[in-house]
Amino acid sequence: MSENLAIVILAAGEGTRMKSACSKVLHKVAGKPIIRYIADLVMSLDSDCRKLVVVGHQADDIKEYLGSDFSYVHQKELLGTGHAVMQAKPFLEDFSGEVMVLCGDAPLLNGESIARLLDVHRQENLDCTLLTGILKNPEGYGRIVRKSHGEISKIVEEKNASLFEKANEEVNSGTYCFRWEFLNEVLETIEIRKDKGEYYLTDVVERMFRSGKRIGSVVLEDGDEVRGINSKRDLANVGEVVFSRIKNAHMDAGVTIVDPRTTFIDHDVVIGQDTIIYPFTVIEGKVEIGRNCHVGPFSHLRNGTVLENGSEVGNFVEVKNTRIKKGSKAKHLTYLGDACIGAKVNIGAGTITANYDGKNKHKTTIEDGAFIGSGTIMIAPVKIGQDAVTAAGAVITKHHDVPDGSLALGMPARIRKKEVK
Ligand code: UD1
Ligand code: CA
Repeated sequence: MSENLAIVILAAGEGTRMKSACSKVLHKVAGKPIIRYIADLVMSLDSDCRKLVVVGHQADDIKEYLGSDFSYVHQKELLGTGHAVMQAKPFLEDFSGEVMVLCGDAPLLNGESIARLLDVHRQENLDCTLLTGILKNPEGYGRIVRKSHGEISKIVEEKNASLFEKANEEVNSGTYCFRWEFLNEVLETIEIRKDKGEYYLTDVVERMFRSGKRIGSVVLEDGDEVRGINSKRDLANVGEVVFSRIKNAHMDAGVTIVDPRTTFIDHDVVIGQDTIIYPFTVIEGKVEIGRNCHVGPFSHLRNGTVLENGSEVGNFVEVKNTRIKKGSKAKHLTYLGDACIGAKVNIGAGTITANYDGKNKHKTTIEDGAFIGSGTIMIAPVKIGQDAVTAAGAVITKHHDVPDGSLALGMPARIRKKEVK
């Protein structure tokens, strides 16, 4: 499969409509940059074939982010999607076979859809195959124009479309398969659009139709997945779809999400069976939650959080880069950052790990069975020993570790060496 397939991802555009200093494709959706969705899709389709990313705006950032799985070509002047594909020519000089072109700004595309596109293209021996979608609101997309027998004759962009064409709900996804020898030939012939100063890749289709090439399509009746991100509104709307996919997958795997509408779970989150996520909870970055945990309502779990089986995190609790071991609880108004919390620890309401001294982050360790009284502040680096107790309002200053089984009270805390349990 690999030698006669090449994949080209278009990611050079400035994303003007995002009104942002950051490249469009590096904006994150559910914690993952938009370009990564397409990159992962491509890797799962065929990780060995030639893979080229056309970069331009913030090229170095994109290259650094995607790394060496891909080759890169620089589009120096951003003269449209047709021009972007022209930049692939040197990379495909000795190539013969099929080229799949994808846009870097469409994170909802499914692996099955692009696999089907490639299958149909190959099995029906087509010269050009389009992935199209039916959208209830097709505004902004190129529309597919078909002849009376259904043959595709061209793609017309929104701004060039007649009222009749605009009423057509079948849109161009920006994902195509081409026989390279014909695409290569036709790319030479497309002309710059005077009104936009761009070469449209979509103009290739009409040229191919006119020269009698075989054009086919895979139509996605539920076209949602072809939606691209062009604006901050799209970012939010597409994000909503990604978040629901993630939540549905967790629910299908046995996680209870009480109110999916107010729960946000990023891409790289693992959650065990029978864990309950209560409303208004945000889980972002790389987070691991075991089985039978309770999270929320109103919890914020950030990158590097690990909740072991049966642990509980409740109202207005923020956790970052912290492991909470089996059966421990932090139920109210707490910040736990850069900490390691043992098993069966109780963290009282209003507990704070003061992990940042203005320059560096420091670690707090709380050992098994400790009882942290309400309103305790632990100034890191500090360690609370096994079965130790801190009294309400205790301020444990840095390096003043609390020995196993002792009680710490006051501000700054004094240690009483006595059995507390
Ligand atoms: C494009 C299609 C449209 C389709 C839509 C699907 C054209 C002319 N139009 O429109 O038919 O419905 O995608 O989402 O192709 N890019 C470059 N270099 C450039 C310009 C763009 O690499 O000079 C890249 C962008 O980074 C982006 C992709 O190409 O990833 C698509 O460009 P964009 O400007 O978003 O095209 P649309 O207007 O959405
Ligand atoms: Ca787009």
